[in-house]
Amino acid sequence: MKLTKHMLSLLVMITLLWCSLNGFAAHGEKKTEKKAIMLVTFGTSDPEAGKVFDRIDEQTRKAFSGMEIRWAYTSKMIRAKLAKEGKFLDSPEMAMSKLMSDGYTHVAVLSLHTIPGEEFHELYQNAQLFGQMAGGFEKILVARPLLSSAKDMETVAGTLMKNIPGRKPADAVIFMGHGTGCHPADALYLAMNQVFQEIDSRAFVGNVEGKLMIETLLPRLKQLKIKKVYLVPLMSVAGDHAKNDMAGDEPESWKSILTRSGYSCESILKGTADYPEIVEVWLDHLRTVLAHF
Ligand code: CO
Repeated sequence: MKLTKHMLSLLVMITLLWCSLNGFAAHGEKKTEKKAIMLVTFGTSDPEAGKVFDRIDEQTRKAFSGMEIRWAYTSKMIRAKLAKEGKFLDSPEMAMSKLMSDGYTHVAVLSLHTIPGEEFHELYQNAQLFGQMAGGFEKILVARPLLSSAKDMETVAGTLMKNIPGRKPADAVIFMGHGTGCHPADALYLAMNQVFQEIDSRAFVGNVEGKLMIETLLPRLKQLKIKKVYLVPLMSVAGDHAKNDMAGDEPESWKSILTRSGYSCESILKGTADYPEIVEVWLDHLRTVLAHF
C-alpha cells in the first residue's frame, strides 16, 4: 500500500494522541508524578543572618511534609561571594535543571522576595520557559512574593509593629525596605507606608533605593517632634543592608544621619523571615499554587 501524505499525518496524529492519553514519554517510559517545592531567595552573605533560611526550611518541611524541597538564590553577587568560601549555591535556573533531570513532573516555586520586582519577574519568566521544554515538567508554577495583597501587607505590618520591644507611643519607627529605582513594583513600598500609617501615625517606610529615601522622612519627624526612632528592616533577612546601611556606624547609615539630626536611634536586627507568622504568608502563597497540581 502506498502511504499518502494525508495518511502519514493521520498516523502521526494518532500516535501523538495515544502518547498523551497514556502519559507515555519518549521511549515508552511511563512518567510517574513527582512533586517538588523550590524556595528562591535573594540570598545573604551574612552567615548569622543566613540562619533564617534554616528556619524557613524547617517551617516549610513541617507544612508540606514528605515533599522534596530545594533552594535557589537569585543574587549572582552573593553566589559568587559564597563560592569563594567554598559554598556553592544554585541559581534558580540551575535548580530547575536539576529538578528536571531528576524527573520531577510538578514544581512549585516560591519567591521569598518582598515585592514582585526584577528578581521575581526574571524567575517567573524563566520558570515559564522551563515549563515549555520538551520532555520536562508537566507543570511549573511560581508563587507570589511576600507583599502581594492588601491582606498580606496588613499581616506583615501588624506583625512587625507588635515586635518592637521597649517602644513608647511617642517614638517613631522607620522600616527599611530595599526599594528599586528600575521597577514599577517600587510603588508597593508607598502602599506599605500607608498601611503602617493606618496602624500608627509615627510608623514609616524608607528605602535603600527608589522613591522613599531617608531624607524625605526627616521633615515629617521634625513636624511630629520625634525624639527617638526605632529602625527595623522590611527585608526578609537582617543582612548587609540592615547591619550597615541601616544600623551601621558609617556616616551615610540611617542611624548616623538620624543621630546627626538630633534623634536617638535603636535598631532591631530581625528580618521579616524571622517571624513565623510572616513566613506563613509566604507559605500561603505556596499553598495556593500547590492547589493547582
Ligand atoms: Co541591595
